[in-house]
Amino acid sequence: MGLEKMGVILGFVGFLMLNELLVCMAQGNVHYYDFVLKETNFTRLCSTKSMLTVNDSFPGPVIRVNKGDTVYVNVHNQGQYNVTIHWHGVKQPRNPWSDGPDYITQCPIQPGTNFTQEIIFSTEEGTLWWHAHSDWSRATVHGAIIVSPAAGTTYPFPQPDAEETIVLASWFKGDVPAIIEEALNSGGEPNQSDAFTINGQPGDLYNCATDAESIYRILVDYGRTYLLRIVNAVMNEEIFFGIAHHNLTVVGLDGAYIKPITTDFIMITPGQTMDVLITANQSLSSYYIAANPFFDGETQFNNSTTTAILQYNGNYTPPASPPMPALPRYSDEDSAMNFTASLRSLASEEHPISVPQNITTRMYVTVSVNQLICPERNCSGPNGNRLSASLNNISFVPPPISVLQAYYRNISGIFDKDFPNEPPYYFDFTQPNMPSNLSVPTQGTKAKILNYNEVVEIVFQGTNVLNSAENHPMHLHGFSFYLVGMGVGNFNDQTDPGRYNLVDPPEVNTFGVPKNGWVAIRFTADNPGVWFMHCHLERHSSWGMDAVIIVKNGSTSATSMRPPPAYMPPC
Ligand code: C2O
Ligand code: CU
Repeated sequence: MGLEKMGVILGFVGFLMLNELLVCMAQGNVHYYDFVLKETNFTRLCSTKSMLTVNDSFPGPVIRVNKGDTVYVNVHNQGQYNVTIHWHGVKQPRNPWSDGPDYITQCPIQPGTNFTQEIIFSTEEGTLWWHAHSDWSRATVHGAIIVSPAAGTTYPFPQPDAEETIVLASWFKGDVPAIIEEALNSGGEPNQSDAFTINGQPGDLYNCATDAESIYRILVDYGRTYLLRIVNAVMNEEIFFGIAHHNLTVVGLDGAYIKPITTDFIMITPGQTMDVLITANQSLSSYYIAANPFFDGETQFNNSTTTAILQYNGNYTPPASPPMPALPRYSDEDSAMNFTASLRSLASEEHPISVPQNITTRMYVTVSVNQLICPERNCSGPNGNRLSASLNNISFVPPPISVLQAYYRNISGIFDKDFPNEPPYYFDFTQPNMPSNLSVPTQGTKAKILNYNEVVEIVFQGTNVLNSAENHPMHLHGFSFYLVGMGVGNFNDQTDPGRYNLVDPPEVNTFGVPKNGWVAIRFTADNPGVWFMHCHLERHSSWGMDAVIIVKNGSTSATSMRPPPAYMPPC
């Protein structure tokens, strides 16, 4: 790629800015990338379509940095519709301006225009990713972010011999923007994807995908150890992933290290990233790498298997058909839960954690798929109504300008500051067949306002209204949080906190709320700004399973939001 070269050109533009930066940013290097968004033709599963990509690639380009670096990405929209880009899991201290979710921190980048985003890395180390954050464009607009240890430091495990990025994604034969638009118009379920992909390829188990080009291969040398950087960019399903005859040792999650877990498979939700070591210690041969969904909801979903090949270098006769990993069935909730419950922060001297103890703000947030009543009963959701989704029974409505702009400029009428600390009414949230009046949310654009340094605990409670319980991967921008507790059924505020893990809980940015269960998370609100919080299943987020968290400025300029950049895209 000519990225470094483009960086030089861009560097000229940013010359004056750069001088200032070098003064105030003592640590870390600065990198420049150009992301050119445009329509590109791709052929998969015997059909060709035009889709939005970055720099003509699917998955898109990898951003490589060391811990603490800063990256400028000039995003050029040469496509046909509005789009924004988000840097998932990058905390962006004091800098919500470049975070990216449309109508939350910025207006979309319109066709024919460009926007330079400044991505500030701080404590993240490991694998993260970037993706479009407008409508469903992230289906084809995404890529990995690799954060290597800072100069002079090393991994908390033996240096791997090589590394590979593995991006899991969804493939739709149809036009993705049309699919979600159609679903939001009719009120029904969006079409499911037609395949999953590993590094852009569906593998050879799908119809019409038997040519050698349709499968991704990782070539390995016997005896070597590889670091796999796995990103789940899938739209609507959690994923089980494994490699035949090879153990996976999970060492990192969401850009933070964990105590190593050796396992046959991982369960990874949309939004999550995992660092996994594998050693090529089996007989010289080829082995399937495979991924299939974990799906515990009641609706339709894509129940197919994507494959890639782990292929040893050397002289041998390749097997007629490589062995397949034995992955859990899509409905295997126990396997998913057991894996998830085994995740622990590394919490070592070199990689310490600090779990908030003295909570000052407690929130209990119900997570529901609901329905909005269509008076004529002519919508395509259940009972002729419109599918919807909510947090604390409020279904999020995107505002006409960004919440950040409205907040910063004190423009009223754009959002409300009263996102509640608890649901409007209490009932047995996880019971089957509850009265349907409990499934109708209110609609609004609501933010929870936090003081700087507030110590926050949020318990997310999954509900079963509409009998629609399923796992919800909740994601928070601007922070990583500690997952201190998880359970099934209704959260019990008397007995459950006593079982929290306050010693080595995983530090994450996305975590699945188990079907008909709950998770408890903690974080310190030390990042002033406007931050989106939502389910990372795309259809739920589109239906309103979202809210905004605003952290007010502290009392000094170092604890306040930075001023906006000279140019922000207009609405
Ligand atoms: Cu991965 Cu709000 O996003
Ligand atoms: Cu969800």
